[in-house]
Amino acid sequence: MAKIKKAFFCQNCGVQSPKWLGKCPSCNEWNTFVEEIIQSSSETKSWENKSNIRNNKPLLISEINLSDEMRINSNNIELNRVLGGGIVPGSVVLIGGEPGIGKSTLMLQVALNLNNLRVLYISGEESEQQIKMRAERIGSVNKNCYVFTETSTQNIFAQINEVNPNIVIIDSIQTLTTSVIESSAGSVSQIRECTSEMQRFAKQTDTPVFLIGHITKDGSLAGPKVLEHMVDTVLQFEGERNYNYRILRASKNRFGSSSELGIFEMQNNGLREVSNPSEILISHKDEQFSGVSISATIEGMRPILIETQALVSTAAYGTPQRSTTGFDTRRLNMLLAVLEKRCGFKLGAKDVFLNITGGIKVDDPALDLGVVCAILSSSEDLPIAEKICFAAEVGLSGEIRPVNRIEQRISEAEKLGFEKIIVSKYNGKGLTQKNFNIEVILVNKIEEVFSLLFG
Ligand code: TYD
Ligand code: MG
Repeated sequence: MAKIKKAFFCQNCGVQSPKWLGKCPSCNEWNTFVEEIIQSSSETKSWENKSNIRNNKPLLISEINLSDEMRINSNNIELNRVLGGGIVPGSVVLIGGEPGIGKSTLMLQVALNLNNLRVLYISGEESEQQIKMRAERIGSVNKNCYVFTETSTQNIFAQINEVNPNIVIIDSIQTLTTSVIESSAGSVSQIRECTSEMQRFAKQTDTPVFLIGHITKDGSLAGPKVLEHMVDTVLQFEGERNYNYRILRASKNRFGSSSELGIFEMQNNGLREVSNPSEILISHKDEQFSGVSISATIEGMRPILIETQALVSTAAYGTPQRSTTGFDTRRLNMLLAVLEKRCGFKLGAKDVFLNITGGIKVDDPALDLGVVCAILSSSEDLPIAEKICFAAEVGLSGEIRPVNRIEQRISEAEKLGFEKIIVSKYNGKGLTQKNFNIEVILVNKIEEVFSLLFG
């Protein structure tokens, strides 16, 4: 019987050590070492006898042909956008997200929409019947989509040789095990080894591989940090579970911009691509309510108009409550302090609730002025006139500060039929009103905005 080999691994960065350590010498985290069974073996990977392995040799940079990097159209505009224009052959893409957010749905939908390509969807989490039921729900049909429920990478590679897929999807990387290592599925060394097998397979056969990954309580991808270094692209699928909107964000992309983002809506028959986010994120009401404002924000590369709702009321108990959805609570507290200290609005004893519609998380500073105006509107119980929107940051002394890419924001507001947009005076320098049909109002202080809106 082979002797069992053990080692200790840092659960944070994946560093290996022969003995237990309190502090990781590599990432300086405490108490992250866990003992795992490892066993190296010289087994050859079964896919190494696959016919289409490319002969690897050094190339002159001038001889590298860029058309070799042709992208595969995923037939999903939002996914293409986030990947930087389509799926790159031989790339490994990791998709992380909370349980139930829709990772399996998204990948199965992509698999079913890749009409002319052979797709192998490998699931270690669900049965074939469950996957079939989901496919029925989504309603698309791809005659060349194979489903395989298996967790051993050796068996997976054996089937890959049979099916010879153009694209491989693995749901999820934490369920895979390789016989090279004896520790249990989901452990650091298993995740790392399985990912590196997938990585080698992808690179040598030019087959794109999608890996679905679990995330931990604090929102980071479960497994060693090296996992994110090993793959080419890391996508985060996020959203509030109780809302239908989902955002796909690239946090790393070797083949495109990492600031792109895709927006989806979870419906009864799968995920719908949302190509005009501004139009759905603004509720069109017949009546004007107080506490509602619209801001022109930029998420990723796209301008999006977002509605903010605020409710300000007298605190029922001693300590006033501050609660937000989709906005940073600390930022709200800062804005309230600015309103109190610099502009003399008495909000210290008030409860303040703030909602960004659609449950979308926004961290664009240009939302500040919209938030402040929504709060003032609710506090004064005066609605903000229709067709006005905002794009400016609010500084600690109550000054209205400029934001980047102002032309893009103004054009988006104009496109959606807004008549006025309030921006910082400092943004006005490079702007010419003639270029826009929308009235651009330049302001310097919160008080100016207040008298503009509420007289
Ligand atoms: P799932 O894709 O399994 O999420 P994950 O793989 O990230 O854990 O589940 C997505 C959720 O979406 C699930 O609660 C059911 C729901 N859903 C729909 O609303 N519409 C649909 O068409 C499908 C397939 C799922
Ligand atoms: Mg799933």
